[in-house]
Amino acid sequence: MSKIILTGDRPTGKLHVGHYAGSLRRRVELQDSGEYDKIYIMIADAQALTDNADDPEKVRQNVVEVALDYMACGLDPAKSTLFIQSQIPELCELSFYYMNLVTVSRLQRNPTVKAEIQMRNFEASIPVGFFTYPISQAADITAFQATTVPVGEDQMPMLEQTKEIVHKFNTVYGDTLTEPKILLPDNQACLRLPGIDGKAKMSKSLGNCIYLSEEADEVKKKVMSMFTDPGHLRVEDPGSLEGNTVFIYLDAFCKDEHFERYLPDYANLDELKAHYQRGGLGDVKVKKFLNHVMQETLEPIRNRRKELQKDIPYIYEVLKKGSQEAKAAAAKTLDNVRNAMKINYFADQELIQQQSEKFKN
Ligand code: TRP
Repeated sequence: MSKIILTGDRPTGKLHVGHYAGSLRRRVELQDSGEYDKIYIMIADAQALTDNADDPEKVRQNVVEVALDYMACGLDPAKSTLFIQSQIPELCELSFYYMNLVTVSRLQRNPTVKAEIQMRNFEASIPVGFFTYPISQAADITAFQATTVPVGEDQMPMLEQTKEIVHKFNTVYGDTLTEPKILLPDNQACLRLPGIDGKAKMSKSLGNCIYLSEEADEVKKKVMSMFTDPGHLRVEDPGSLEGNTVFIYLDAFCKDEHFERYLPDYANLDELKAHYQRGGLGDVKVKKFLNHVMQETLEPIRNRRKELQKDIPYIYEVLKKGSQEAKAAAAKTLDNVRNAMKINYFADQELIQQQSEKFKN
């Protein structure tokens, strides 16, 4: 069986280091591993519109921002198919058929949708498109016969729902769709990187993100202002790692070789943590080290992005080509789905024959 990856992001803003730690870095590794037959990376503009229907300009602007971030991180159009969701109308048709296989109460139980409805104060009146986006996400995944979906843990309920749809479809109409597996980040700190203020989620409105395209001095300012252990007042005091943003970021980004380069008094993160917990290690020293780590991580991304920004028509060309390729793949699945659902009237000679027989004499 082919190994196929599909994943993507809603284009509602530039991507930040949380996206990088949680999924982008992994995608590039998977891409470069050579283990996958196809890799589809989707800019989910149609899904972004389900809760931004009144702000299409925002979505449109961010499509190219996300594409730039993707390619700056190392997603390579020669190895991965980068495409725009709305350019694949086959996905809508698949969603339409899958809707028959999902109940309203099942959608209401989806924990991610539940949380998002609350966050957006949608309780009183939820747009139908938003409410049903898990179904459309199942279409995204199955259209490409994806076997592997690398995403953050917040997407787990979407994968569960997709598997249910696949199972239901295959049971009712015969084996047609491929059941996908979720691939979560392997590093615990990367599952959900907090904002620089220690709040659980990085979000543009909270102003607590470090963006991938951010300039070096801005990154430094943000790192130096990071939330640490509020009880760690004097350098001599023992410090706590629990909820300590600086250490969570180190868990996500630092490698042993960073110590050799920037903090040779310690061999690795465990030694640094032990000293912090014992007392005698100040926050500023740890933050300066984290700043080095972040700069080393982000500098090549920022530089590549600046290069890519010089030729925006090329970015659109990549997305156009990718969308054409993705459309062809989705059309193949849709064909199979139509056959399985017996709505392939004109391609089915047997049907015409059978109906002819039926009406004879
Ligand atoms: N829901 C994802 C997000 O919010 C984006 C997305 C849409 C997606 N369709 C997908 C991710 C299919 C993985 C697979 O970022």
